Amino acid sequence: MTKAEQLQAVAILVPADFSDHAVRRIDRTFKQIRVERTDPALVTDEMRRTVRGIASFAGISAAMMDALPNLELIASFGVGYDSVDVGHAAAKNIMVTNTPDVLTEEVADTAIGLLINTIRDLPRAENWLRDGSWVRKGNYPLSRLTLRARRVGIFGMGRIGQAIARRLEAFGLPVAYHNRRRVEGLSYEYHPTLKGLAEAVDTLISVAPGGASTQKAVNAEILSALGANGVFVNIGRGSTVDEAALAAALADGTIAAAGLDVFADEPNVPKALLDAPNASLLPHVGSASEHTRRAMADLCVDNLVSWFTERRPLTPVPETAHVKARG
Ligand code: NAP
Ligand code: 8YV
Repeated sequence: MTKAEQLQAVAILVPADFSDHAVRRIDRTFKQIRVERTDPALVTDEMRRTVRGIASFAGISAAMMDALPNLELIASFGVGYDSVDVGHAAAKNIMVTNTPDVLTEEVADTAIGLLINTIRDLPRAENWLRDGSWVRKGNYPLSRLTLRARRVGIFGMGRIGQAIARRLEAFGLPVAYHNRRRVEGLSYEYHPTLKGLAEAVDTLISVAPGGASTQKAVNAEILSALGANGVFVNIGRGSTVDEAALAAALADGTIAAAGLDVFADEPNVPKALLDAPNASLLPHVGSASEHTRRAMADLCVDNLVSWFTERRPLTPVPETAHVKARG
């Protein structure tokens, strides 16, 4: 049997809402099995017997892994993989891959756009033009806030954090950051605590991953430390923010404004945030261009191909990097 024929026999489970480009490639290369969603209740006897890989968009639970005894690889679409139970995968010798780097610059672009929208109120200014207010009422009011003379703190100075910092340097703004560990070779000011960072800056951009270690890390105390001229932007994960505390801080002037691309319970956005006039909101579009989603889809499928031909992943997540291919 040729390698191509061998791959045609490998069953890959693919959820209904998966990337069209990835679906076409998986269909050409593997034995693709579609399922409405990656829910153990939908696993049939045939899936249980045959599935060796999953291409996943949403989360993969421990129960889903347990329902597929021959599962070797979860190829996750996206760089953040907090919705995949990687501890369980590692314990069961299941490899998990993600899609780093190919989306870094796109997400950094979106972060800067969201920052400027939030500070200069551009979405509402455009609505002013479109709804005829410019003609009827005159010029749009001056923005209360400016990007000029701001000090920016980045929570999560990884690949995307550094791409955002490079852009901010070009804007002439000083950058500081908080990670658990200082990044070797980076000259930006490092703060060992998130509170220390929030106290030192007036603009906080969160691009930290989700998960237990960041759960509601941006809380009332951090927002209060950011201060009344403070602007908070979240392009990382909604779970890193106490959304009730954020809504309260926006309402009572603890901070000045917020720009959010991600939410704790997507696509549901708390009414208090929807109603906040000083919040700029996006529906999780950080990486959402055709160009970048296609690159993410290719890396997701390339991981499947590499695993089932070369028996090694291209971009394993650190928690499963030690997992060896079976057989
Ligand atoms: P990355 O290179 O792994 O960077 C993550 C950074 O966060 C690391 O520098 C890490 O440093 C820091 N970090 C992790 N846990 C922390 C903690 N508990 N406290 C403080 N710092 C912590 O990842 P990336 O490629 O930049 O992506 C970052 C995240 O962006 C993803 O995980 C995803 O959630 C989000 N994202 C969102 C979109 C969107 O569409 N909005 C798109 C892509 C990615 P230490 O390990 O030293 O702490
Ligand atoms: C994707 C993201 O939209 O990569 C990530 O972590 O949040 C986004 O790029 C998302 O993962 C798609 O499921």
